[in-house]
Parts: sequence; structure tokens; C-alpha cells
Amino acid sequence: MASQLGQLAGTAQRTADTALRARASAVIPGGMYGHQAVSSLPPEYPQFMRGGVGARVTDVDGNSYVDLMCSYGPVVLGHRHPGVELAARDQEALGDCQNGPGPVLVELAELLVATVTHADWAMFAKNGTDATTMCCTIARAQTHRRLIAVARGAYHGAAPWCTPRPAGTTEADRANLRLFDFNDLASARAVAEQAGEDLAGIMVSPFRHDAGYDQELVDPAFARGLRELCDQTGAALILDDVRCGFRLHHGSSWEPIGVLPDLSAWSKAIANGYPIAAVLGAERFRDGARQIFVTGSFWFSAVPMAAAIATIRALKAQDAVAAMERAGTILRDGILAQAAESGFDVSYTGPVQMPYLTFAGDSNHVLATEFAAQAVRRGAFIHPRHNWFVSAAMTDDDIAVALAATGEAFAALRRATADRH
Ligand SMILES: Cc1ncc(COP(=O)(O)O)c(C=O)c1O
Repeated sequence: MASQLGQLAGTAQRTADTALRARASAVIPGGMYGHQAVSSLPPEYPQFMRGGVGARVTDVDGNSYVDLMCSYGPVVLGHRHPGVELAARDQEALGDCQNGPGPVLVELAELLVATVTHADWAMFAKNGTDATTMCCTIARAQTHRRLIAVARGAYHGAAPWCTPRPAGTTEADRANLRLFDFNDLASARAVAEQAGEDLAGIMVSPFRHDAGYDQELVDPAFARGLRELCDQTGAALILDDVRCGFRLHHGSSWEPIGVLPDLSAWSKAIANGYPIAAVLGAERFRDGARQIFVTGSFWFSAVPMAAAIATIRALKAQDAVAAMERAGTILRDGILAQAAESGFDVSYTGPVQMPYLTFAGDSNHVLATEFAAQAVRRGAFIHPRHNWFVSAAMTDDDIAVALAATGEAFAALRRATADRH
């Protein structure tokens, strides 16, 4: 497979990438925008990608990488998974964007309701932000209240109410948000008390995965406490499963700890890279969901729905979560051993299939950035300020190539830091 995809990136070429960046800077504000912009990353990062198969991706210059970002989450079964691609092609041959949805709309909703314990109904959109925003709107429509509580620093999307960069937004966009601290039930209770009769919902991610910080698993007592708080106040418990959904569990991410939300937001992994998002809800919120007007020109496209059905079936058939846990564990153990061998004090946090690496005392990410650049240069595509993603396509060979790259990256970092002292 590696030979089809080009050479490893030890001696990376950047000719095509450089030319595309120059053209982009003339016709695209900033040359590129959003989470995939590499302007704040070292020059080792390619901006433009050509394609990928399984756990390997290739940039426009033909340099190949083991993919540990998985398109920032969507690719869960590996690039161009045969079953998903076949389902997408079969649907495409029939039709995609039509005057009404295909039968796949109903089939996918039925599959999600059968797969996710708390779900009695499903609605679809395109992006995670659509889904988190819809959850807020449904909670408000159902409860006739205004306020939504979210954890300080949590990412729930890029709409004016939740974007981390306030340029172009107004205070009014966030006026109905209240903040608590993740895993701090007392702070959530205080917010609920201050909100009084006006709390429409509490939105929370399955674990704390704020960019640039060590990740923090949820304390089950905190999750149970939020459930009780919502039961007491009538507010909706909204689980933002956009990033974690179907990577941690073949159902909603808090099912293993026995906490079921009222509403959940999904996107990224549910169609292995095809553009679709979903809101899943419990019976009590069906009426609120029925009342709101939400739509989009491409929200009912049939190809991503067919891809989602195939993805969910393959996740179960392949026991994909177990495969990701296995690969993620080998990767974690290998990286931690390499760090110890090279004398670096690191934290490797989060579930093994969504890990994040930080260096002790490296609050401005200087070491993490240099390490990531060295790893990318050697063919392991990781990120210094965002959690990584492991896919179920990782073979032992992919893991070995990734670990060879990270091992050399630690050694290079050791040499660079020794030279500086
Ligand atoms: C937890 C979480 N919620 C919402 C979103 C927004 O999803 P999208 O970028 O598809 O709009 C993201 C995206 O990274 C996310 O990680």
C-alpha cells in the first residue's frame, strides 16, 4: 500500500503545496481558514492533500503519512473504506440531491434509533455546528426558556453563539449562555440556581477535550449529577457527541457510564467522512423538535445518508471501537516508552483512540510544536494543539511506521534542546 501512496516524508517535497498556497493567498482570505489552516503550524505541515487509503494519506506533493488526525475526526474506518464507498456509489447512481430525501433518510433514522439507547427520533443536517445549534433551539422550543449552560472553554462549533473567536459577533449572540466548569458539579448547580426558571439546557462533551490542554475524562458522578440537575429543573441534558461519537462506543458516549442525555449532537465519524450531522432525541423533546424550522439545501442529500448507514453497520461488524482501542494502546505505550527513553516528561491524556500529548512545563506549546513538526517530517501526521484521532484501519505496519517517526522525533527534539543548553 505504501508504494501506491508515494514515499515517506523524510525528505518532503513541497513544490505543489507552495504553488497552491501562493495561488490561494490571492483568492482566499488568509490563504485558508478554519481548523485546517496550517498558517500557525510549522512549515513541515502540508496545506493541501491529494488523497488517502486506510490509515495512510498523501499530500499534493506525493509525501505519505500515517494519518493520526483522520480529517480531524470524520475518518473512523480509514480512508476509502470499501463498504462505505460502495454504498455511496450505489446511492449516487440513483440520485443524491433531489426534490425530497431518499428512503435512506428513514433507514438511517431507524438505524440510529436502534443503535443509540437514548434516541427515540433523529433529524439530520450537515455539520456539527448545525447539530449543536439545533439542540439549543429544540431545548428552548420545548421548555419555553432561554438559557443554555456550557462548560468554560469547551468547543461546540463555529456559529456566533459558540465560536472561540469573537471577531464579527456581538455580545447578544452569547447573552443566553451560562458557564460552568467541566467535572465541577457545584459550579453547574450554581449556574442552574442562578438561572432559576430560565434554564433550557445543559450542553456538555463526553470528556474534556479543549484544544491545547491535557484532556480530562468525565467523572461519572459529575455526569450523573448533571442528569439529576436536568431532571430537577426540566432543562435538557445535551451531549455534544460530535467529536467522540462512535469512536468511544457503538452508541452514545455516556452509555458505558449509564447516563443518557435528552438530546445529542453528532457529526464527524457517523459517515466516515461524508458530510452529515444528526440530532438524536428522547420522546419528551419530540414536540420541540417538530416545532422548529431548520433546513438546508444539502441537508437531505442521499449519498451521505447511504454512507452513514454503511459506516454504522461496518463499525459494528468490524468491532471498530475495539480495533481503535487496540491500535491506540500500542501507540500510547510506544510513545510513552520513547518519551521516557529520551528523557522527556510528557502527559498522554484522553481515551487511547483520541489521545493528546503535552510536554511538562511547555505551556506555549514550543516543544509540542517542534515534536509534531519532526514527526510530520518523518511521516506521522499529528497535531501539537489538537487531540489526535486513531482509525480502525490502523495495521501493525501503520503503527510501526508511526512509532518509528515519533521515536526519531523525540531523538531530534532531544538533540535540538541539548544544543540550546
Ligand atoms: C465537540 C464538538 N462540537 C461541535 C463541533 C462543530 O462541528 P463542525 O466543525 O462539523 O461544525 C466540533 C468540531 O470540531 C466539536 O469537536
